[in-house]
Amino acid sequence: MYTQGLLDHSEETEETPEFLAAFQKRIDQEEKIEPHDPMPRAYRKTLIRQISQHAHSEIVGMLPEGNWITRAPTLKRKAVLLAKVQDEGGHGLYLYAAAETLGISRLEMTEQLLKGEAKYSSIFNYPTLTWADIGAIGWLVDGAAIMNQIPLCRCSYGPYARAMIKICKEESFHQRQGYEVMMTLAEGSKEQRDMAQDALNRWWWPSLMMFGPPDTESSNTDQSMKWKIKRFTNDQLRQKFLDAAIPQAKRINLTIPDKNLKWNKKLNNGRGGYSHGPIDWEEFWRVVKGGGPMARDRLRARKKAWDGGKWVRDAATAYARKVKR
Ligand code: 3HC
Repeated sequence: MYTQGLLDHSEETEETPEFLAAFQKRIDQEEKIEPHDPMPRAYRKTLIRQISQHAHSEIVGMLPEGNWITRAPTLKRKAVLLAKVQDEGGHGLYLYAAAETLGISRLEMTEQLLKGEAKYSSIFNYPTLTWADIGAIGWLVDGAAIMNQIPLCRCSYGPYARAMIKICKEESFHQRQGYEVMMTLAEGSKEQRDMAQDALNRWWWPSLMMFGPPDTESSNTDQSMKWKIKRFTNDQLRQKFLDAAIPQAKRINLTIPDKNLKWNKKLNNGRGGYSHGPIDWEEFWRVVKGGGPMARDRLRARKKAWDGGKWVRDAATAYARKVKR
């Protein structure tokens, strides 16, 4: 039972068939569920799972890009990257606050992450080897995040949907600046074009994996669709991303690293779309289970930051107690 955090939900409603039917009727009628509303325990649990992991992803996602702030090629690129990384920290705070409305505390969520009990997006377990990686992350990773996050603005849970509106506005800037980095490199010298192509080769498949396992292996999608937490399935969002990103790559003369890529006129209800080659789901699950190349570094950095910030938390707590007296 989640009893810490902003609201105490220890008085849960008895989950009679009538209660569950009435709740689903509210969802079907597109009503927003708010923190004080009675809700099924499983609805609360899956939202805490998804929102806290989303928040962890935002904060851990600052690390690979932060690695290049001091090495950005110009002052302008440095300022843009600083702004983006700062935005991601704000996204994390927004999402932790949304999760806290469900009755879990920031402390609990952080402990789950540091103990390896909570996930963060697989994509952030890959290294950023060159400046072009910063372009590829903005273009592809934030591009994928936008595909996934725009529908979340219509999520049935009010605080999550509202957090997404501000976050999506900033994601668009993130994606545009990344694509502009890739465009600049692709129009540059041969070394720069090769750097951009190398980054695309390394970030393309992990970006497709960001959308989660195939629908057939997704343990949460069916229920999340019924509760209108998700508006599209993993495969539907992956398809939307493919159809948007491939023309963008062609526009800057970069080659998608998939020899099986082809236009399939049957996709998207006959409007056509791109079909892709096989995704290495063994790699996906290995990374999700903590086997990514940078997994150890990411958690070590999060633990160092958490331990280093203890004095701030202690001081704030001591001050809050003093003010309360
Ligand atoms: N990385 C890590 N774990 C993943 C994953 C990924 N890319 N995709 C799926 N998983 C996990 C799920 O968490 C689930 O495990 P759990 O039950 O223990 O939580 C399991 O694999 C099965 O996957 P499902 O498809 O059943 O899980 P979901 O229904 O939760 O769908 C999701 C996965 C699409 C990522 C969904 O959770 C979601 O939409 N989350 C919100 C968006 C989000 O978290 N995006 C992450 C990136 S944030 C980002 O990119 C920031 C940007 O600013 C750079």
